[in-house]
Amino acid sequence: MADGKKALVTGGAGFIGSHMVDRLLELDYKVVVMDNLSSGKIKNLDSTAVFHHTDITQPAMVEIIQREQPDLVFHMAAQTSVTQSTKDPIADANTNVLGTLRVLEASRRAGVEKIIYSCTGGALYGDPETIPCLDDAPLAPVSPYGMSKWMAEKYLEFYYRQYRLNFTSLRYGNVYGPRQDPHGEAGVVAIFSQAMLQGKQPQIFGDGAQERDFISVFDVIGANLAAIDRGDGKVMNIATGEATSVNRIFELLQGITGYKWDPLHAPQRSGEVYRISLDWSRAAKEIGWAPKVSLEEGLRLTVDYFKGSINSASGVPSAG
Ligand SMILES: NC(=O)c1ccc[n+]([C@@H]2O[C@H](COP(=O)([O-])OP(=O)(O)OC[C@H]3O[C@@H](n4cnc5c(N)ncnc54)[C@H](O)[C@@H]3O)[C@@H](O)[C@H]2O)c1
Repeated sequence: MADGKKALVTGGAGFIGSHMVDRLLELDYKVVVMDNLSSGKIKNLDSTAVFHHTDITQPAMVEIIQREQPDLVFHMAAQTSVTQSTKDPIADANTNVLGTLRVLEASRRAGVEKIIYSCTGGALYGDPETIPCLDDAPLAPVSPYGMSKWMAEKYLEFYYRQYRLNFTSLRYGNVYGPRQDPHGEAGVVAIFSQAMLQGKQPQIFGDGAQERDFISVFDVIGANLAAIDRGDGKVMNIATGEATSVNRIFELLQGITGYKWDPLHAPQRSGEVYRISLDWSRAAKEIGWAPKVSLEEGLRLTVDYFKGSINSASGVPSAG
């Protein structure tokens, strides 16, 4: 129960953040959002959330946190592109490390009860020797994005030790679902879904045998809620434990959308892990969480969303 509590969602206009906002509002939290709209969109945002168009790397955000006095912070704002992080590691670290540090410092000063951090599992362990990969496997990120997300987690641990600023860090697999940006270079489910529905040929980087742990955004939101009262000072994977190839995602989406053609193939991209899945047993133990949405159901929900958004963009009323 919300008990009149106020939650700040940084990056709340983004894919995962906007679902977080919706769910918190449903649960009667007062919700404040901070987003610079670099990849997030106003149309994702419920109008009852208080919105601050602010950059987490700018000093103004400190005053906003001081004024708003949130009880909880869901820290989701980040530079999220692996490719962009390899092109401009300084900009990546500026948002993901220094921006996070500002959020932590401002939260400490404002007396925030807990920070729940959106970390990555997919980009943190490199190519692990065994899968599903445990939360305490050696960390070996191969991209600046993985490094900056890891460094932010280390600062959370420092603030916890030094100032008792409570946190839980959730290391997600590959999150997919409604509202994921199909125009970006990440988010294969969104990109394939939209392309197939529009009759365009999706592109697969490499041979498509690369495997990822695909987790529904709705399960990720469930984990964030479960971490409000549990998992203090802990880091944990939030994933399914299943490795699914990009080719398999292509086939499943072909079945759902009725798309009949083959994919285009392009060279594999640098900085990407080849094969990973993540063990989630620590999350089960620490926060009582388990994934609930099957891949087939999650993909269907995603395709339904893109059908609706394509129809509304073309003026065709969506069925149901
Ligand atoms: N999508 C995934 O598969 C995945 C996997 C692991 C971790 N994560 C993490 O989950 C979080 C949310 O990711 P997402 O997939 O929703 O991406 P997203 O790009 O949709 O959301 C990020 C949001 O942060 C905002 N933002 C970026 N830089 C900012 C800044 N300097 N100041 C204020 N706002 C800023 C963007 O405008 C956007 O709304 C991120 O922290 C990401 O690292 C995502």
